[in-house]
Amino acid sequence: MQQSLEFLVFGATGQQGGAVARALKARGETVRAFVRDAQSHKARALAEQGIKLVVGDLFDRASIERAMQGVDRVFSVQTSSPSGLVSDEQEVMQGKAIADSAVAANVEFIVYSSGGAAGKGLTGMGHFDSKSQIEEHIRGLPIAATITRPASFMEMMLLPGMGLNTGVFTFFMHRDQPMQMIALNDLGRINAEILCHPERYAGQALELSGQSITGKDLECAFSLAAGHPIRYQRFSEELLAGNVFLRKLTELVDNGVVAGIADIPALEREFGPMLTLKEWLAGAGKAPFDAALNMATADIALR
Ligand SMILES: NC(=O)c1ccc[n+]([C@@H]2O[C@H](COP(=O)([O-])OP(=O)(O)OC[C@H]3O[C@@H](n4cnc5c(N)ncnc54)[C@H](OP(=O)(O)O)[C@@H]3O)[C@@H](O)[C@H]2O)c1
Repeated sequence: MQQSLEFLVFGATGQQGGAVARALKARGETVRAFVRDAQSHKARALAEQGIKLVVGDLFDRASIERAMQGVDRVFSVQTSSPSGLVSDEQEVMQGKAIADSAVAANVEFIVYSSGGAAGKGLTGMGHFDSKSQIEEHIRGLPIAATITRPASFMEMMLLPGMGLNTGVFTFFMHRDQPMQMIALNDLGRINAEILCHPERYAGQALELSGQSITGKDLECAFSLAAGHPIRYQRFSEELLAGNVFLRKLTELVDNGVVAGIADIPALEREFGPMLTLKEWLAGAGKAPFDAALNMATADIALR
């Protein structure tokens, strides 16, 4: 009998790694999750699904090397500077450390989750340019690799501060301006499919998105899901003038770098139907959407 493959997933207690680990597990694969704290609520939930835990820290190279032993395929993702957990330089160091350790451990295949704005020249935003550097490093290594570049997550719109609970949702696009987004469940299942088929995807860089969404689309879908009108408006000029980070991001949405260039029909031919915003709101997005809608705080931070 052929021995089953072993997949090592980084960031498995987080959004992307969690979605990939779940998708691999649902396919019946053997999954090992690299976690900082095996006793954390999220790590224990992984173990309950039959995912093996290997404890380490991305700041501890030796722990990454130990985790790689006996591994066939790796899903690599790191946090970035907006999280406050790492600097841009540390993100690059961690991304390179995972890839270098995979080479040293004779891992067969690595999938690196980058970002939609990466690999298209310098953007001037550290947490995008860090990903271009990691991509470049991986391309130079003697290992089969695929780079996936996810668009903004639909889940990101439910962060506090966007105004869902005030009846006025505020985000990057103008009313008629499209921006690509993807649901985490699609991101998980597509990365899992790629991890299971290096013969088909090694050497590629794939832009991942589920739908191009305008401000008006958000207004319609959110109003329908809420059962009452939610008005849409773009971040105000006043807010953007006072928030350099949001202003730069908005400029990159406007000049197309963050708006997304994924070929969604081609992705659907390759990987099957992608979740639309409306479908996501009726499924995995429903509970977090309802929670964001009913959030008690006076939520005007970003307007
Ligand atoms: N938000 C978006 O729309 C979007 C779109 C495209 C790309 N991205 C990129 O996605 C990345 C973040 O992915 P995510 O949202 O899945 O992250 P996340 O939900 O914040 O999860 C981060 C994961 O990394 C783990 N981690 C953090 N520091 C660690 C360390 N020192 N050692 C080991 N593990 C560590 C965390 O473990 P613990 O449970 O121990 O904390 C957690 O599992 C960023 O690089 C971001 O730029 C985001």
